[in-house]
Amino acid sequence: MFLEPITLQLILPLLAILFAIYTYNKSKTKYDDLLHMVNCLINTIEAKSPVTYMHTERVCIYALKLGKALNLSKKDMLILKEAALLHDIGKLGIPDKILEKPDRLTDSEFEVIKNHPRKGYNIIKSIENLKPVAELVLCHHEKYDGSGYPNKLSGDAIPYLAKIITIADSFDVMTSRRPYKDPSSIEIAISELEKCKWTQFDGNMVDVFIKVLKTDKDIQNVMNRSFPSNID
Ligand SMILES: [Fe+2]
Repeated sequence: MFLEPITLQLILPLLAILFAIYTYNKSKTKYDDLLHMVNCLINTIEAKSPVTYMHTERVCIYALKLGKALNLSKKDMLILKEAALLHDIGKLGIPDKILEKPDRLTDSEFEVIKNHPRKGYNIIKSIENLKPVAELVLCHHEKYDGSGYPNKLSGDAIPYLAKIITIADSFDVMTSRRPYKDPSSIEIAISELEKCKWTQFDGNMVDVFIKVLKTDKDIQNVMNRSFPSNID
C-alpha cells in the first residue's frame, strides 16, 4: 500500500535525521564530527521548512548577542549556539498543513504544535554530546511564572540558557512577518518584552537584552534578513 503524502512528509526528514545519528555514532572522531552532525540537522530543517530555518538563524544571532552581554563562558556560548539553531527541530515532526498554515492556528492545531519541544528533545537526546542541548530544546517554551510548556517549569528551575533562547525566540516572533500579521517595530517589541518581565521572561535578562537592542547597530539588519548565511 502507498503511504499517504502526509506520512511521507514526516518520515523523510526523520529518516535523514536517523541516518545522520547512525553515521555520527559510528564515527571515530566524534568531537570533530559533532559540528558536522549539527549542520546536518540544521540542513534538514532548511530543506523541510525554510521559514523555520530563517527563524532559527535569527534567534541564534539574538541569543548569542544576549549571551555575550551576560558574559557567558566560551563553552556555554557554544551550547547556546547549537541549542538556538536546533530549538525548533521538533517541528520536523509537525504536519506541513499545520506548520505552513497561512492563517492563525486553531486551538487544536496549537495543541499539536505544542508537542514540538518534546519531539525535538527526543531527536537530540540520542546524540551523546548533545544532551545539554536537548535539555534546552525541551525547555524553550517554558515561562518564568510556570505557565509555559511542556513541563510548566518556573523561575530558576528553567535552565539559564533556555531562558535566553525564550527571549530571543519571542523577539523574533514579534518582529518577523507572518502571512496573518505585519512585523512589530523594535520599539513595540521592546515594550512587549517590558510588559512580560517576571511573567513570561526572566526580568534581569530582559533588561540586558533591551540594552543590547538599543545599542547594537546590527539589530535592524538581523531583523530584516530573510536569507541564509554563516553565523560566526
Ligand atoms: Fe519553538
